[in-house]
Amino acid sequence: MVVLAFETSCDETSVAVVRDGIVLSNVVSSQIKLHSEYGGVVPELAAREHLKNLLPVAKEALDRAQVSPMDVDLVACTQGPGLPTALIVGWRAAQAVAYVLSKPFLGINHHEAHLYSPWIEGTPPKARFDQFQPNVSLVVSGGHTMLVLVKAPLDHVRLGGTLDDAAGECFDKTGKMLGLPYPAGPWIDKLAKRGNPEAFRFPRPKLNDPDYDFSFSGLKTAVRYFLRDHPELAQDDAQLPDLCASVQAAIVDVLVTKTICAALSHRVQYVTASGGVTCNSALREQLQAACSRHGLRLKIAKPEFCTDNAGMIGILAEFKYLHGTLPTPLDAEVQPSMELA
Ligand code: KG4
Ligand code: ZN
Repeated sequence: MVVLAFETSCDETSVAVVRDGIVLSNVVSSQIKLHSEYGGVVPELAAREHLKNLLPVAKEALDRAQVSPMDVDLVACTQGPGLPTALIVGWRAAQAVAYVLSKPFLGINHHEAHLYSPWIEGTPPKARFDQFQPNVSLVVSGGHTMLVLVKAPLDHVRLGGTLDDAAGECFDKTGKMLGLPYPAGPWIDKLAKRGNPEAFRFPRPKLNDPDYDFSFSGLKTAVRYFLRDHPELAQDDAQLPDLCASVQAAIVDVLVTKTICAALSHRVQYVTASGGVTCNSALREQLQAACSRHGLRLKIAKPEFCTDNAGMIGILAEFKYLHGTLPTPLDAEVQPSMELA
């Protein structure tokens, strides 16, 4: 079965071709440069950029996969959550393609697709649902931070999520206060390598609460007050690595501790992780170290499938369709606030 998948939920325009569980192509056009000028994603600009890029990206995905539109058996698209106007661009295009080709159409929950992206492995990338193991999945990016118990493919329960800012948002906003460009996450990561994570003590919100929710807005405020009270530090380049390392340590500490607690209390043997923040080197190292300490196996999505991409949408769409999920009516709308089903 050949799936043509679209993803335009935020600032990545992506189209992928999936055939029999293999990602034949996964083209991603990132808008980071465009939005960096504004210090964050501007929804209206994102939608216009998707409009401009979607057809060339789709053409490239089909060309790279050496697949003709006539070969497509299923059209899939992210239905939500995401920025409403950004979602609509991919959604309308995908609906039009499904209509013209008279092929079934499947709307996919973006978060659900992240849950299975760590199982896309090898060269060429193939979804290894046959190797699936029950796991606790950490989805952590600029838009989301959540922990999900994934009992079996298509059988999952959300354990908790952020009550305010996502972890990536916290990296980006605190980085902005430190004078770093958007998105600040990769900069903090880089600078933190030269810094002392214990130089300054920032709060670890909800670290010891018995639930699996997160809250990062307090940490952001703590950094703001800290810089207000120590303005000389923000101007001092020599202190920047220590500040970055200390902020990063607070975020990573909470993410790792909560993830391990969830995995242990739900008695799974696997932890999986995806989303842009899993590129963070301290998070990767500390999650790996904590998993090893507790006898847990860790699977982090490959970089190509970690950040937003249509490959994971196509993989999940094919699996769902083959396992009985009914097509989405062609007059269905996007669901910007879609919850994890
Ligand atoms: O998944 P993603 O590409 O897009 C969505 O937000 O959906 O994630 C982007 C987020 C940004 O907040 C960015 O700062 C963060 O991931 N990020 C990082 C790193 N690389 C990307 N955060 C910390 N360390 C990194 N190395
Ligand atoms: Zn995402």
